Amino acid sequence: MPVIIIAAAALNRVIGYRGALPWRLDEDLARFRALTSKNNACVIMGRTTWESIPPVAGTRLPGRTVFVLSSRPHRTDAFPRFFTTLETALDFARPRYDDIYLAGGERVYAAGIPHADTLLVTRVFQRPAGDRFFPDVLDSGAWVTVREEYRPCREQPEYCFLEYRPHSGIPKSEAHDSA
Ligand SMILES: NC(=O)c1ccc[n+]([C@@H]2O[C@H](COP(=O)([O-])OP(=O)(O)OC[C@H]3O[C@@H](n4cnc5c(N)ncnc54)[C@H](OP(=O)(O)O)[C@@H]3O)[C@@H](O)[C@H]2O)c1
Repeated sequence: MPVIIIAAAALNRVIGYRGALPWRLDEDLARFRALTSKNNACVIMGRTTWESIPPVAGTRLPGRTVFVLSSRPHRTDAFPRFFTTLETALDFARPRYDDIYLAGGERVYAAGIPHADTLLVTRVFQRPAGDRFFPDVLDSGAWVTVREEYRPCREQPEYCFLEYRPHSGIPKSEAHDSA
């Protein structure tokens, strides 16, 4: 049940602008779809991110198990299921799902960092205008890069897939288990 933050962030840490992604990277979206569609995975995201996803044939993120964070009460028997805190969503997901993806936006990433075992960051090599940012942790020394995959320049801008683990090497989920 690792908690995995999945994000695309520019060099200036921008993740969004005016309610949308500042870029279009088809391969990155396909990777998100493939990872989050795996058996027994779930996705946790903020209400604004959820509402920004265009429905396909009336459904957002088809085939995925999605939990949405919102401070407002919502029905809990409908799809998607809503939670009022990240912690209650994680408590629900941890015993039920093998991989728990935290998919933004800004507030969810900030709240998710202390819980995360892995950061999957698509680093986009540009400095676009933005109004939503990834937390300032990637160069802090608290996280180390364990995998880098530069992508051929078929799409603009250039980008690479980076995987980070905590510098301590101790997965947060293990610390959680022993707490
Ligand atoms: N580059 C990327 O990888 C990436 C990924 C995701 C999103 N984005 C971008 O980010 C922007 C959208 O994200 P955002 O930062 O504006 O909003 P967001 O985090 O998706 O949603 C914010 C809302 O979610 C709820 N929420 C968030 N954290 C919560 C918590 N810990 N507890 C309870 N409720 C919580 C609140 O809903 P209520 O107001 O209902 O209380 C809050 O107003 C868009 O531009 C989108 O394209 C980029």
